[in-house]
Amino acid sequence: MDLGLTDAKVIVTGGASHIGRAIVLQLAREGAEVVIIDRDEAQARRTAEAATVGGRHPARVIPADVGTRDAAEHACAEAIGQLGGVDVLVSNVGYNHPEFFLRTDPSTWDDLLAVNLTAVMACTRAVLPSMIEQSHGAIVATASTAAFGEQRQSVYAAAKAGVVAFMRTIALEYGRSGVRANMVAPGLTLPEDPATLGDESLWRNREAIMNDAQVEYVVRNTPLRRLPKAEDIANAVAFLASDRVSRQITGQVVTVAGGFAMR
Ligand SMILES: NC(=O)c1ccc[n+]([C@@H]2O[C@H](COP(=O)([O-])OP(=O)(O)OC[C@H]3O[C@@H](n4cnc5c(N)ncnc54)[C@H](O)[C@@H]3O)[C@@H](O)[C@H]2O)c1
Repeated sequence: MDLGLTDAKVIVTGGASHIGRAIVLQLAREGAEVVIIDRDEAQARRTAEAATVGGRHPARVIPADVGTRDAAEHACAEAIGQLGGVDVLVSNVGYNHPEFFLRTDPSTWDDLLAVNLTAVMACTRAVLPSMIEQSHGAIVATASTAAFGEQRQSVYAAAKAGVVAFMRTIALEYGRSGVRANMVAPGLTLPEDPATLGDESLWRNREAIMNDAQVEYVVRNTPLRRLPKAEDIANAVAFLASDRVSRQITGQVVTVAGGFAMR
């Protein structure tokens, strides 16, 4: 199916590794012109090279830490300048320290909220004026099944639930200006190839995030009895990014989790 994303101007935050990388490659294959914003410049350049090979346009990289509001807005403004506009923002940056709440050091709260929630708000603020001016635009944020409540994820879950509420509000406020705002909520998505992970990827040390028994628990409780792959998430993002196939879809969360969560 042609998603109509040929020559679309796209920004992907956290596009260097794993899920973000799959999103970049998928959108580049659709013919989009992509800018990756990521703090891992080396891995972002490797991903941009791969995207350029499979796409119509050279993919670009803007190295930035979107964990601070100013840096996120500045990086998005630079991306819009390089692209000469913006049709699609994929706010994909996120990170997590799974742990029970009372074992979570409060000194990590601010950073978890900044990277998972404030970065989405800052990037949205940076792209909205251009999208409103041209009367179209799609914003897709990577939420998580944790947004519906999950053990060992309290602060991350709060941030991702905040992303859902924020994006729905953006859909309500700016739909009349032609802007759609949607989310993909991945379930547990393990990387299959270490080459898809840069030094900043959470999954460089998978055992610290989730041990084998915990992975088995998720698989056992997943109706399809298999975990999503990064490409499954990227397919859903591409669908929501496309005005052609999802023109009537806004304010929605598409959960890609094999049925592990059904909201
Ligand atoms: N993998 C999963 O199981 C899973 C499940 C649910 C939701 N998610 C969400 O999907 C998104 C992608 O996760 P992933 O598993 O690919 O993670 P990952 O750690 O493999 O990749 C995250 C990317 O973001 C970049 N990044 C991290 N913090 C940054 C910052 N402050 N500024 C700029 N770049 C930064 C990293 O360099 C990396 O390229 C995140 O929002 C995550 O919360 C992942």
